[in-house]
Amino acid sequence: MKSKLVLLAFLSTSVVALSGFSLFGGDKEEGSVSLQRMADAMFAVMEADRANYTKEVVHRMQNVEKIVDADEFWEDKKALPLPAQMFRLGAERVAEKDLGFTYGLLSQWPINKQNKAKTKTEKEGLAYIAENAGENFYGSEKLGSDTYFTAVYPDVAVSKACVSCHNEHKDSPRTDFKLGDTMGAVVIRIKAD
Ligand code: HEC
Repeated sequence: MKSKLVLLAFLSTSVVALSGFSLFGGDKEEGSVSLQRMADAMFAVMEADRANYTKEVVHRMQNVEKIVDADEFWEDKKALPLPAQMFRLGAERVAEKDLGFTYGLLSQWPINKQNKAKTKTEKEGLAYIAENAGENFYGSEKLGSDTYFTAVYPDVAVSKACVSCHNEHKDSPRTDFKLGDTMGAVVIRIKAD
């Protein structure tokens, strides 16, 4: 009797788990997630963290409470890392895991020249999202012997802090950013096996 109950409990949880899984898998290929949906989901998390860090940590602590500033030289100055530096710290930690997946923050008007588009697909993607507000760009590219799915998402000026800091920065090649402008792009690259 006891073992039957256990079996029943096991079966019902499996059914719940399976139906949950197929719900998540969604459209055509039940139980699997397309590279585009995977990239879109990862971008949603990155974008949420980035906007929250800028608004709830940098803007609040620096501009509202005036307790601590964000500074490029945050370690020396005992300050907060800039939003872009915080983003790169995450990207570097993920890259160490060697998951066949990398991401970064690029721009056509970079303060840091390292953040320029390098590959043909990156350049094409950055130009596309700059001209088509609110749209994403998806492509594939071969780097070395591997093929990658590359997604390019707009990085938007969500706070006044984004605009004023970039416009006033001595190394910024552009000084007329406005709230809501596309300032750059998040590029996500996933190895397609
Ligand atoms: C206090 C100054 C400051 C604030 C606030 C700030 N940035 Fe930046 N941002 C920088 C600096 C400096 C870099 C270059 C950092 C690096 O790569 O080491 C940078 C990098 C970037 C890049 C990569 C291209 C580049 O310019 O090098 C993008 C895109 C970007 N920021 C967009 C934004 C957006 C959008 C916001 C608001 C959510 C924001 N920034 C807030 C100073 C700032």
